[in-house]
Amino acid sequence: MTDISFEKLRQEEEALLFRTYGRYPVAVARGQGARLWDYAGREYVDLLAGIAVDALGHCHPEVTESVIRQAGRLVHVSNLFYQKEQLVLARALLDTAPHLGKVFFCNSGAEANEAAIKLARRYQQRVRGRDAQEIITFQGAFHGRTLATLAATGHPRFSDGFAPLPGGFRQIPWGDPAALEAAVSPATAGVLLEIVQGEGGIRPATPAFAAAVQEICRRSGALLLVDEVQSGLGRTGKWWAFQHFGLSPDIVTVAKALAGGLPMGAMLGTDGVAGGFVAGSHATTFGGGALVATAAAKVLEIIARDRLAERAGELGAWAGERFRAVGRARPGTIAEVRGLGLMIGIELAGPGGEVWAALLEKGFILNLTQERVLRLLPPLNIEREDLEAFAVALEEALA
Ligand SMILES: Cc1ncc(COP(=O)(O)O)c(C=O)c1O
Repeated sequence: MTDISFEKLRQEEEALLFRTYGRYPVAVARGQGARLWDYAGREYVDLLAGIAVDALGHCHPEVTESVIRQAGRLVHVSNLFYQKEQLVLARALLDTAPHLGKVFFCNSGAEANEAAIKLARRYQQRVRGRDAQEIITFQGAFHGRTLATLAATGHPRFSDGFAPLPGGFRQIPWGDPAALEAAVSPATAGVLLEIVQGEGGIRPATPAFAAAVQEICRRSGALLLVDEVQSGLGRTGKWWAFQHFGLSPDIVTVAKALAGGLPMGAMLGTDGVAGGFVAGSHATTFGGGALVATAAAKVLEIIARDRLAERAGELGAWAGERFRAVGRARPGTIAEVRGLGLMIGIELAGPGGEVWAALLEKGFILNLTQERVLRLLPPLNIEREDLEAFAVALEEALA
């Protein structure tokens, strides 16, 4: 296809880029829908979709068209100006969660969580007059790589060498309401959780745990902060994973899938907590620029129009059953298949490196997390046939 050799790219990267990423042995040349191609023209089925970013698949033609059109009209001014594109998107976002009333735009998931942490503290201290700064998070969480979100993530694997991290975070076991009950205090500003832990190995909250977290928050005055950076925007079968459990979080964060692959994050909050920020409390240069906001509005329009959340729910339920059948056909290889919608974890009975590599060799791109959990976050519009082909490949790889 071209003369770009993988080995040459690898060497150049080693010379030019900080060594922050453990790369897969693939150099991606282009993508379309649920397919990627490398520079040698080899085709892959992308079951990872940019780790939940490419929810509409790669290069969705309608998103591409709206980005091209907007790029010729207005890309960026400054948040010193009123911008219609932000309002169109804000309205679309708030329509997905009627109990929420305000949006702050930023550029990534970590930034959305930073905004959420700042808002929770400032709301408690300036609006409620409470001396509450602590944010409680859960073991297995992942909230980002800025210093505060590293502290919230609370795992030494990510924070090694970065001490001192900001204070005011406390981490407790996942899924244990008694631990939360014991941890909340008058100093608690908020409780931050992923409804389905993503990096932590696709671990959904149980309905009882989710309900208990909200109840403890309400009783103690702590805010309920839900990180939907990975699980949001239809992936789990509803617009938001918290909606499976009937929760009403005070603050919700989102990023990844929001702008169809362009960098964008957002924090949504109730009208009540929104009073925690005043002009000058928080800001970001690029947040909500016209180009990314236009892309995101188109993404939301397509998810709604094509009923992709419902599709993710149905297809995810089917895929979960199909992968369990693979486990039955290969006894002793799969410990558990779990998830919600098209957020799927296949926990293997042992370390998964070889199975992962065999699947890549067969042309399936997915992620291995927690050393033994195959993580699938495919485009919401992926064809069932692609998941069926993956199931067949998985059964072979487990042989
Ligand atoms: C649940 C969750 N929160 C936050 C983040 C951080 O997002 P970003 O990498 O855009 O900063 C991630 C990224 O994987 C995530 O999965």
